[in-house]
Amino acid sequence: MNSETQAGLDALCARAREAFQRTYGLLPTLLVAAPGRVNLIGEHTDYNDGFVLPAAIDRHVLLAVAPRRDHLVRLHALDFAAYSQFSLDNIEHDAKASWSNYERGVAWALQSAGYALAGMDAVIVGDVPIGSGLSSSAAVEVATALAFQTLSSLEIDGVRRALLCQKAENEFVGMRCGIMDQYIISLGRRDHALLIDCRNLGYELVPIPQGCSLIVCDTNKRRGLVDSEYNTRRQECERGAAILGVPALRDVSPEVFRAREGELDEVTRKRCRHVVMENARVLEAVRALREGDVARFGELMNASHISLRDDYEVSCAELDAMVEAAWRQEGVLGARMTGAGFGGCTVNLVRQEAADRFAVRVAQEYTRATGLVPEIYICRAEEGVRVLS
Ligand code: GLA
Repeated sequence: MNSETQAGLDALCARAREAFQRTYGLLPTLLVAAPGRVNLIGEHTDYNDGFVLPAAIDRHVLLAVAPRRDHLVRLHALDFAAYSQFSLDNIEHDAKASWSNYERGVAWALQSAGYALAGMDAVIVGDVPIGSGLSSSAAVEVATALAFQTLSSLEIDGVRRALLCQKAENEFVGMRCGIMDQYIISLGRRDHALLIDCRNLGYELVPIPQGCSLIVCDTNKRRGLVDSEYNTRRQECERGAAILGVPALRDVSPEVFRAREGELDEVTRKRCRHVVMENARVLEAVRALREGDVARFGELMNASHISLRDDYEVSCAELDAMVEAAWRQEGVLGARMTGAGFGGCTVNLVRQEAADRFAVRVAQEYTRATGLVPEIYICRAEEGVRVLS
């Protein structure tokens, strides 16, 4: 782990321990850290059974916990200065402390799958920006799952943990997300991205190319519309797959799409074109990285952005301004929006020697274009969720 990552985590641990003692009058017995994530390429493909290439990043949600003898779960979210508690015997939504529905949902999903859970006291703290599309909520879910798992001595592997957290989000929180976020947060590896096959749930490790920096630029435009538009996109993809007579758009090759796109209405055609071509781009991007062709990888990132902007229509003025500022810089290999869209972050692959200058310039040009002040993070690909010793 590099020293900055360690310093960031150390600071979170110190805050969490101190707050735990203040809140509950004793020290936590366990610290669990779950990273945020960024997706390099393969956007809106996961719920089409397709391919994605995310990496976990060195920003974390930290859970400090201690077991209880009863079935109570008490939560103190430090960053919201908020408390919530529930009984494992009757897990309900908390409309007032809606942040706690992620923890509640995970407990609900674990219990629905037949796991017996012990109660716990917890403090939650993090430095994954909230609402920026870096999956702070999936990090909360996965950290909560590993905390319950460890306190209750449950054997649950990383893929199953990701699936249970996705179930929590789909069925308890009510957001129909795919598997990408929970998967990479569960199974991420330092200095690697994961090529995930969202149909068979297998993965291959793909090293982040040496000499390149992974830079995340937060537009500071909080994501509006995202839930409703996200669900609409899913329906549009399902309609496309039904018309083309396949279980999922994963099953449509670019050649078949070109031959049959005339059967689709205009909106469905655009959505399907994005997904079909994006899947092909992910596979080509991984091949390019394996061959050391970072320039080609970057071109595919750029093409992904254009497709998300024009065909999938999930970008926004701020994301476009950030990507265009990036494209103008020296040393940039590729830049695109990342995550669900409608605000949030861009991901950039930049030659290492140009990274600092890139960060300064992009921020200036973005502010000039939008009047907003962005946040720029030079990231390291990190390990997935873990118990800190
Ligand atoms: C959100 C969802 C993911 C994925 C992305 C878009 O992050 O949680 O499952 O669909 O959007 O690629």
